[in-house]
Amino acid sequence: MPDTEVVTISTYEGAREAYRSKQLRQALYDAGEVIMSDVIVNLHGDDHRSRRRLENRLYRRDTFAHYERDLFPDIIDTTLRPHLDAGRAELVGLGHQLMMNLAALTAGIDRPLGTPDETFRLHAFLKTFIEGATLAHYTGDKDAKRAEVQDALDAFDAEFLRPSIDRRAALIAQHDAGDVGEAGLPRDVLCVLLRNVDALHLPHEAIRREIAFYLLAGAHTSATAFTRVTHQILDWLEAHPDDAERVRTDRLFVQRCTHETVRLQPSSPVAMRWALADVDLGDGVHVAQGDKVVIDLVAVNRDPSVFGDDAEMFDPFRTLPAGIAPYGLSFGLGMHACIGQDMAAGLLPRDDGALQEHLFGLVPQAVQWLFDHGCRRDPDDAPEMDASTTRPYFGRYPVLLGA
Ligand code: HEM
Repeated sequence: MPDTEVVTISTYEGAREAYRSKQLRQALYDAGEVIMSDVIVNLHGDDHRSRRRLENRLYRRDTFAHYERDLFPDIIDTTLRPHLDAGRAELVGLGHQLMMNLAALTAGIDRPLGTPDETFRLHAFLKTFIEGATLAHYTGDKDAKRAEVQDALDAFDAEFLRPSIDRRAALIAQHDAGDVGEAGLPRDVLCVLLRNVDALHLPHEAIRREIAFYLLAGAHTSATAFTRVTHQILDWLEAHPDDAERVRTDRLFVQRCTHETVRLQPSSPVAMRWALADVDLGDGVHVAQGDKVVIDLVAVNRDPSVFGDDAEMFDPFRTLPAGIAPYGLSFGLGMHACIGQDMAAGLLPRDDGALQEHLFGLVPQAVQWLFDHGCRRDPDDAPEMDASTTRPYFGRYPVLLGA
């Protein structure tokens, strides 16, 4: 067998072409199959289309509006308020806890006890699932970690998933018998899957992986963005103290800062695909069947021909060419484009400035809460990077809150 050729894409146009090509198949999670083997982001062709079509039914604008206006504010406040009372918070842990609470709701994982201990256990599972999905970047013993992830899946199944399935199955049976209306069914991924389990031919293990993936896809990316956006805004305010008021009064400012942060620091710094056939990606880039395509999102989102000569800089007031999203390609494009993008980062503001129907996104909403409650750096406790991974994550990010 010849060595695999790796073709790296670092221009915006090349990345757009690659994302849109149906001849390029997901390759990012090959090492993380313990969690990821047949989840939506790993499916291709008809299998992907039918799963996506189904899950798209849930992830519509009215569902996002329901989450953002009716459900998220309470969860954000309940999760963050004890830290306000304490006058300080550590954003990495807090961000994961918060985004996990939001992701559990949308994935369909119930927490009947509602105790801090129960949240702590779910959080421990989530951390292990994240390690499972990102095994390629793990610096320790990969086989031992894989076995640990499998054990965590089993324990998660018994404690959280089975009871959540049983509750939904009972409601679906009542719905089918005409005793419960559509509004009585939870609006979450698990319920959608259970109602269509026969059509999708999904064994229990596949549902388990899909829900674990939704938990981590929703929680981990948003939690990472939560800390990074706060960091960027704190940096920005140091250099632009006049914007201290803007961060509280201009509700679009935090959303713009979120998009600019996600552009510069995509939650997933690369996308990867296997070429199923020879493909031309424009600009003279040719990919041969069997090649691995690496989309270098950090470079793509800093392509000066699209984002300007100062593309490396954080500038929430950046002007963009028509048709270019302020977060670049950080939510992907084409068949696997992020299903939770509008939920995480909101909608792009309309030209007429009308905000009544606007969705800000859960990351801006949560970061806004911090700045509405006096978030600032702790002069005695500096942030630290996470040494256990090759990816650029913060390990600890202490801040002060309140007056
Ligand atoms: C800042 C937050 C987020 C970022 C940066 C992000 C980024 C991405 C990216 C880059 C992809 C495409 C992967 C690829 O093409 O290989 C993706 C797919 C996906 N994302 Fe997100 N995501 C975020 C939040 C969320 C949330 C909140 C959810 C929860 C619903 C979610 C669910 C998914 C799913 C299910 C897919 C797979 C879609 C498919 O394969 O059809 N993401 N995300």
